[in-house]
Amino acid sequence: MTSEATAGGHAGGGEPVWKGEPGNTSTLLGRPAVGYLDAAADTLATVKREILRRLAPAPGQRLLDVGCGNGADVLELAGRVVPAGEVIGVDVNERAIEEARARGTGTGVPASFQSASAFALPFADGHFDGVRAERVVQHLPDPAAAIAEMVRVARPGGRVLVADPDHGMWAPDLDDREATRAVLAWWFDNIRNPWIGRRLSGLLRAAGLVEVQARLMPVVLDGVTAADGLTGFSDAVRRAGELGVLEPDRARALTANIAEREADGGFLMYGAMILAEGRKGD
Ligand SMILES: C[S@@+](CC[C@H](N)C(=O)[O-])C[C@H]1O[C@@H](n2cnc3c(N)ncnc32)[C@H](O)[C@@H]1O
Repeated sequence: MTSEATAGGHAGGGEPVWKGEPGNTSTLLGRPAVGYLDAAADTLATVKREILRRLAPAPGQRLLDVGCGNGADVLELAGRVVPAGEVIGVDVNERAIEEARARGTGTGVPASFQSASAFALPFADGHFDGVRAERVVQHLPDPAAAIAEMVRVARPGGRVLVADPDHGMWAPDLDDREATRAVLAWWFDNIRNPWIGRRLSGLLRAAGLVEVQARLMPVVLDGVTAADGLTGFSDAVRRAGELGVLEPDRARALTANIAEREADGGFLMYGAMILAEGRKGD
């Protein structure tokens, strides 16, 4: 890996070449964030259903979604807390909040959206029955501080659920294992906390939650469209060739190998999301 390439992530030093974090709508470059979140929601439908099931929203509850993106999960939850409950989504990305508000308009469910940071949630201690954050903590500079904020705004007995991928687990079906490993390590190190999934239960316990559990859920990206939609993998291979992470010929060979796999039954890549949850003690 060249120093030019590492400067594109968070390794520091030199003029950044590429400043995006895959999947972070605050830093996404070149991909429309809202479309990205919609495609990801389709791919992760099973994971989202499991998060919903575990949060077990009930009529009258107050729930919070931290880093709510386009608000789809908030609207889904809000339909289940009627008539007396409310669900609030917060995000630092103003465009995401605008989109979420637009999607909520006319739905009649008790959902609202605010621009706010995970590090300074504008709510009183103990305000919520449940708090969720999905694919957010992976991007945050201080995961422990954000989790402490989520725990602060949960009521005693309330649940906090944090879900993130483990970006050290992506496994694409390709022949050149050495080149594949180099691309995966470089691309996913652009995410601030690529291995946060395996840290989550420890962080929840350290924040004082009890009955902490971590559940691993497979994410199967069946075909290039799914793999690129969620992780930008083809783009990663191309950029790795351009930025000197791989020799250009080797990157081209990897690109050709992806196309071969796709033509010959379908390119497959899999990984995992970790769902970590706990209860705030009474
Ligand atoms: C990959 S998206 C996930 C969005 C949504 N949770 C979902 O599952 O579709 C990550 C979200 O975290 C938001 N985010 C990043 N840093 C944040 C912060 N410090 N506070 C609140 N939200 C943040 C981004 O703007 C983005 O909308």
